[in-house]
Amino acid sequence: MRAAVFQQPGRAVAIEDLILDPPRAGEVRVRILASGVCHSDLHVRDGEWPRPGPFVIGHEGAGIVEALGPGVDPAATGLTVGRLVALSWYAPCGHCPGCLAGREWLCSDSGSSRHRLADGSTRTHRADGSEVFPYCGIGTLAEATVVPVSAAIPMPEGTPPEVAALIGCCVSTGVGAVLNTARVPAGSSVVVIGLGGVGLSIVMGAVLAGAATIVAVDQVAAKLERAVELGSTASVLAGDDPVATEARIRELTNGGPDYAFEAIGLAGTIEATIRLLPPGGTAVLVGMTPFGVRAGFEVFPFVDGSRSILGSNYGFAVASVDFPRYAQLFLAGRLPIDRLVERRIGLDGVEDAFDRLRAGAGLRSVVTF
Ligand code: APR
Ligand code: ZN
Repeated sequence: MRAAVFQQPGRAVAIEDLILDPPRAGEVRVRILASGVCHSDLHVRDGEWPRPGPFVIGHEGAGIVEALGPGVDPAATGLTVGRLVALSWYAPCGHCPGCLAGREWLCSDSGSSRHRLADGSTRTHRADGSEVFPYCGIGTLAEATVVPVSAAIPMPEGTPPEVAALIGCCVSTGVGAVLNTARVPAGSSVVVIGLGGVGLSIVMGAVLAGAATIVAVDQVAAKLERAVELGSTASVLAGDDPVATEARIRELTNGGPDYAFEAIGLAGTIEATIRLLPPGGTAVLVGMTPFGVRAGFEVFPFVDGSRSILGSNYGFAVASVDFPRYAQLFLAGRLPIDRLVERRIGLDGVEDAFDRLRAGAGLRSVVTF
């Protein structure tokens, strides 16, 4: 199978022909139909999250179940050959305290965090026998993958594969930050800073939650237009003068938003997100920084005004519950996930998609197979 392989930080991913072994117990083989290119792949590619290669990159994918490992029960799992599944990049182990408490985004024993299957191995190797590992345990920028059953979530009939793919990362991360992490009440005012796949999903989540004011902020004008189409009520082009940008946001939110979401992962915008809060306001940090980045804020007014900061990884997703819900909302016309897709590319277009992400240009590039 062809796959985009990350070898080492700073080096272009290479398209290689790899061998994929059959699924073992507790695993399924999935033929990938669509995989988005997410900024988290770029963090790895550029060495902002140093990780040793080689692995098949990609973690925002969906496809068709091709084979069930020994003992995988179709009745118990909903996994049948031919079924469309969205892949979760954080397959829960099912037995750690986080999983047992129903908070699988806090799973402490997921193979995904080691970029391995649950048993620590990989089904993917080169013709010379050397191993290649699946990024986040799923490695979706490939023609096929073998994943744990808990990573393969059956999608409702009629879900387009591209939509299922984006549910696997940016949609769950963004919509979940609003509905699960922050639990934004109807009528709230919301600001979203950074309008990539994640930030635009936050905008869609805020619409679903019934936010009264949704201010979308980005430094690229085209992103603001798409946010307005998705339901933001106002937008602010982040210019060179952060003071002016923040003043405009305050003006549009009557002194500051009830909820401010950061969806980039830059210290400067994280600090601005916290600074924007009025008393009682909540900052929700969704964007992931390079390792080691620190941010600061003035403590006295923060405590005095009873403000809050929430960290939100993967939108507090319980994949088996949330993924089908997001798909149903799409099918009902209430979550226009397809509007995030801008370009369909081949595997050899991944590096070009990375260039576009670095420049903040365009919406999601999706590799289709
Ligand atoms: N001010 C305003 N907007 C900015 C700024 C800035 N200083 N810098 C970048 N942006 C905008 C870009 O123009 C782009 O629209 O932030 C957006 C980032 O979007 P993407 O690169 O598409 O990233 P995305 O895949 O949405 O992920 C966002 O969430 O999960 C994490 O690792 C992921 O850190 C990444 C973040
Ligand atoms: Zn992602």
